[in-house]
Amino acid sequence: MIRASAPGKIILFGEHAVVYGEAAIATAVNKRAYATACELDEKKIVVNSKNLGTEIEAGFKDETNDPIVKAVQESLKNSSRKIGIGIEINSQIPVGVGMGSSAAVTTATACAVTNLLNGKNDPLKIAEIALEAEKIAHGKPSGIDTSITTFGGTINFKRGTVEPLQTNSLSIVVGNTGVRRNTKAMVDMVKAGIEDPRMGCSLFSIGGLVKSARTAVLDNDTETLGKLMDKNHSLLRDLGVSSKSLEVLIKAAKKAGAIGAKLTGAGGGGCIIALTNDPEAVITALVENGATAFKVSTNQGGVRLEQ
Ligand code: PMV
Repeated sequence: MIRASAPGKIILFGEHAVVYGEAAIATAVNKRAYATACELDEKKIVVNSKNLGTEIEAGFKDETNDPIVKAVQESLKNSSRKIGIGIEINSQIPVGVGMGSSAAVTTATACAVTNLLNGKNDPLKIAEIALEAEKIAHGKPSGIDTSITTFGGTINFKRGTVEPLQTNSLSIVVGNTGVRRNTKAMVDMVKAGIEDPRMGCSLFSIGGLVKSARTAVLDNDTETLGKLMDKNHSLLRDLGVSSKSLEVLIKAAKKAGAIGAKLTGAGGGGCIIALTNDPEAVITALVENGATAFKVSTNQGGVRLEQ
């Protein structure tokens, strides 16, 4: 039996524009998904999700729309050992709200299964398998989610290139609207409007802003990071990916003294992140406005084997 875990994530800067080849910055947070893999007597795949309360059975070559089954199938494809595999998932990451739940679960699964099959821990292979699995959920993901859940820390990501950024942990509060959204639908919505020059301008401006953000992250320049988060949010609003409930939380966080705040991930619901020296005040304001809110530590470790 092998147990592995991978972190959830937040995108600090650059979501959506990253799909069009611009850079984006993501950081791993201290909420993790755990996958336990064991060998089964029968040659089949069984995935048991403790959080969702679901159990799925599949064959090695079945067509699947489940990213976890896909991660197991891809791991088996890469190994000469064709054994039945059972997976149990336990996750601390809220589902469907832009905190990288699906990427963390598939990354942890790929890690546990490749180790069970080959006794090896190859992060590059794990990232590759997790990305294949993510394509089921997201269509054409940029790869930023599976890169951060694999490598951890804080990364500057551009067209499949991952630059680790040496930086301190930031004091961030996450506010969850509780509204689940679909990343693929939000990415498709932006794509549908891409011929509008204003959309193009916003995406291009986000790309430019990420360059300044990279420097501010490396310099641990919190004031500049806050201003850039505000700017990034207003460009995402121009793109049409914010929502009424996200706007309520952004306003509440800023009123409670946040240095900067923005939506994180695909938008349309999901979460905001607020950079703050006073997490308690921001959490209180967000909760008063209907959110679930909590502080996260950033810059956490990537995928790893657990005892
Ligand atoms: O899955 P989410 O909500 O973290 O969004 C991922 C970020 C996007 O840029 C919107 C999509 C992508 O593939 O990069």
